[in-house]
Amino acid sequence: MSDKIAYSRQGDIAVLTVQNPPVNALGQAVRQGLWDGMDRAEADDGVRAVLIVGDGRAFFAGADITEFGKPPLEPHLPDLINRIEASPLLVVASMHGVSLGGGLEVALGCHYRIAVPSAKVGLPEVHLGLLPGAGGTQRLPRLTGVEAALDVMTTGRHIGAAKAHALGIIDVVEDGNQMENGLAYTQRLLDQGAVRRPVSEMDPPAAIDWDAAFEAILAKGRGQISPAWCVRAVQASVEKPFDEGLKTERQIFYDLMQTDQRKGMIHAFFSERAVSNLPELKGVEPSEVQHIAVIGGGTMGAGIATAALLSGLRVHLLEMSAQAGQAARGRIEGNLAGALKRGKINAEQHDAILGQALQIVTSYDALADVDLVIEAVFEDMEVKKQVFAELDRVCKPGAILASNTSYLDVDAIAATTSRPTDVLGLHFFSPAHVMKLLEIVVGDKTAPEVTATGFALGKMLGKISVRAGVCDGFIGNRILATYRTAADQMILDGASPYEIDAALEDFGFAMGPFAVADLAGLDIGWAVRKRKRAEGHAPKRDTTYADTLCEQGHFGQKTGKGYYDYAAGNKARVPNPDVLPMIEADRARLGITPRDFTHEEITRRYMAAMVNESAKVVGEGIARRPLDVDMTLLFGYGFPRYRGGPLKWADIVGLEDLLKDITSYAAEDPEFWAPAPLLEQLVAENKTFDDLNKKG
Ligand code: CAA
Repeated sequence: MSDKIAYSRQGDIAVLTVQNPPVNALGQAVRQGLWDGMDRAEADDGVRAVLIVGDGRAFFAGADITEFGKPPLEPHLPDLINRIEASPLLVVASMHGVSLGGGLEVALGCHYRIAVPSAKVGLPEVHLGLLPGAGGTQRLPRLTGVEAALDVMTTGRHIGAAKAHALGIIDVVEDGNQMENGLAYTQRLLDQGAVRRPVSEMDPPAAIDWDAAFEAILAKGRGQISPAWCVRAVQASVEKPFDEGLKTERQIFYDLMQTDQRKGMIHAFFSERAVSNLPELKGVEPSEVQHIAVIGGGTMGAGIATAALLSGLRVHLLEMSAQAGQAARGRIEGNLAGALKRGKINAEQHDAILGQALQIVTSYDALADVDLVIEAVFEDMEVKKQVFAELDRVCKPGAILASNTSYLDVDAIAATTSRPTDVLGLHFFSPAHVMKLLEIVVGDKTAPEVTATGFALGKMLGKISVRAGVCDGFIGNRILATYRTAADQMILDGASPYEIDAALEDFGFAMGPFAVADLAGLDIGWAVRKRKRAEGHAPKRDTTYADTLCEQGHFGQKTGKGYYDYAAGNKARVPNPDVLPMIEADRARLGITPRDFTHEEITRRYMAAMVNESAKVVGEGIARRPLDVDMTLLFGYGFPRYRGGPLKWADIVGLEDLLKDITSYAAEDPEFWAPAPLLEQLVAENKTFDDLNKKG
């Protein structure tokens, strides 16, 4: 028998204990071990029941995702589960930790299910571009009805034991240890003369309007297909005999396995975990952070302070006056009220945060004891230098001094202090207590322990932290500046902001770039354009329509008008009729005759610009690996997760074709469209961006 499954006897009960750390994924050896364990139990004299139980952190975290995309190995999970369910013995699952995907499906193949109160179950396969492929779409609806089953599998959310019990997924919830509980429960069942109870033999649930459900879920997924296909599989559970329904599920599972969406989402799953795993930090100990300071209590500073407070840190927030401090406190109170409403904290925690953990101060001298400071003041080098000079003066030795700058040179900021090794960039995204991305900007002199502490802080705050080198805009904003320029150039040539937004939203972005600009505030881009012009870095054909909007006081959602008019509320955006005439004036000034753009051409140009700049960012070492760029765009810029990130997308569509596009666009503007040397190299060597991820 496989060493992943331990076989033991407790009276009439055979116990199969799963031992596949860290999370008992159902890899081939585990599946084989369970199969052999069932054979052995059935052949073992006197055994009347089998208890399946997990060692360590979980019952099962599901199929072994590392096996996906490779030739399937026997025994297949659906066959194993059918085999378990068909056993003449009574089979019981005792669940603790998580039972996800194939893990929950194993439990559904058992005849009875017990769990500890902290156990969680779920069918998260849609997050991998798949659907439950081992009977989950056929068995779960028989226990819960169609609507609850569809909710579980199309959202992929984890459900607590109590809720799972109420839905009929778990039979008994009992405090204690999974092994002892499982044995006692199985013994009780035997004593009561309980009989086998295969879910597959239960009546199918009532039908719903399948086409309406399919369309509604497809629309909600913004182009992601796997949630909608759950509907068709569940439909089969109602309309077909169990075995036929299983075949339908299997077929859809295999079809989804072949899709680019599956590749993109599995890339995202592993990259999201690999992103903070940096070889340079192996063995480097982060320093302890319990008490931080935030300088500046505007939207960003208040958001950072909120994120820290919600993670249990003490925060001193520095403002320039008591009045500004009061306003900052108001912003944080608003954020915390939202967290309370959403159940992220309870009333007691809320009051403790406001009563003790948060202190608003107006003097730098109050920051002498903090472990780490994050500066979030106005984006102006002179202002930042003054702040860092003060921090250098008051902070204790070893305190980490971080800047939340989005563009400015972290090395130059560090150079104004007597301790440049303790300085780094911690670039949050607004609203900082909601957005998952954190760019950790490592300067020339930043010490490894300081970088490690940045990553440890990111983990504490629940962020996806990406290492970035120093350049204008770091990873994300540098790439954004380039694809936004490509969009502006298309506008000069004839596209409208609304066509561009529609094309990119069709591609899967939550919002197109102009709707995003309205949300973020048009004044931000205005300031960047002014700075770039002053530095001589304006595009060859510079646009002015966005400046005109700002000059008229239209900064997007916050002023009620930008590219769109928000008079009817922020959700009901309608194009602002003043924008197209401003664009036409720009075209007339530059002598451009506009032409038509298809959505396909818009997307190709926009993506070509994004990929080309991303390749430069990797080639120059600003991002260590392509996956770092992918995660930056996914978690900070609304890139559709099911496409994996711009460089995964590039691998999937083919680098050679992309390079051809870029080269053809370079005929119009050789400087802007200069192909990235790394992209040329990969094409010449017939390699992919993903090959570079594998180097670690
Ligand atoms: N297969 C392979 N490896 C897995 C895995 C899985 N199903 N689940 C987790 N791991 C790995 C992670 O990659 C990570 O590896 P490293 O330490 O090398 O980075 C390690 O296990 C620990 O995982 P986390 O860091 O994520 O630990 P966590 O405690 O934060 O979360 C978890 C644990 C909730 C189980 C989370 O890992 C998770 O959500 N896993 C995926 C669950 C899932 O999607 N299951 C469905 C699989 S598909 C399926 O089952 C198809 C089917 O129907 C047949």
